[in-house]
Amino acid sequence: MATQTNDTPATTGTPHTIPPTAILATEKFYLRRYEPADAEAMSAAANDPELAKYLRSRFPSPYTLADAQSFIAHCNSLAPPALTFGIFTAEAGEVAGTVSLEPPKGDPIYSGTRELGYWVARKFWGQGIMTEAVKALTRWAFANVPELLRVEATVFEGNKASERVLVKTGFVKEGTRRMAIVKDGKAMNEEMFGLIRADVQV
Ligand SMILES: CC(C)(COP(=O)(O)OP(=O)(O)OC[C@H]1O[C@@H](n2cnc3c(N)ncnc32)[C@H](O)[C@@H]1OP(=O)(O)O)[C@@H](O)C(=O)NCCC(=O)NCCS
Repeated sequence: MATQTNDTPATTGTPHTIPPTAILATEKFYLRRYEPADAEAMSAAANDPELAKYLRSRFPSPYTLADAQSFIAHCNSLAPPALTFGIFTAEAGEVAGTVSLEPPKGDPIYSGTRELGYWVARKFWGQGIMTEAVKALTRWAFANVPELLRVEATVFEGNKASERVLVKTGFVKEGTRRMAIVKDGKAMNEEMFGLIRADVQV
């Protein structure tokens, strides 16, 4: 169950205290913006070809410290509401992944849409972290960003774990963008998922 932490920082009962910069927290993790000091841990967590395989080419592989520094600087330069967050374990404040709701680029007719993107470090796979993070962040965003109408996510063909995350969090599979992408020299389909305000109770 997600808890809003805008006003009162929560504690987990362990030595690690959830910082007041967290936008929400669950029993497993909290979400907060990355800070420059996170770059080393973030690059170590992200530096895995098994993550890059299912992500767009702008996700570097290998993922260096400089890549993390420039990603964090970029995130912190965005106009509010910038919605890219690190996922930190509640127990130790360890970087477990990233989840973001990015504004669409291009035509202003898409201003009510945000694109969901995410990854979890491999050592944390299969623990329900991303299902919980997507559920909590999308509901938080619908409650806190009045202009938000739709969250969409595109998934490379064959990325069953990601499809499961989306289905479990209420996204509707809207169609297949046939042969939309070429990744690592292979042409493949891309699956389109959407979640609109009316799909969730906030
Ligand atoms: C996709 C990803 C974010 C999932 O994170 P996670 O925290 O492990 O996800 P969860 O534990 O919340 O749920 C994973 C679900 O996928 C299922 N799953 C995992 N591997 C699977 C596979 N090969 N086939 C089918 N289902 C699979 C799990 O069983 C679980 O579903 P269940 O609860 O019904 O059993 C993670 O695997 C990842 O970072 N992958 C690489 C980057 C990526 O693909 N990003 C998304 C791009 S669209």
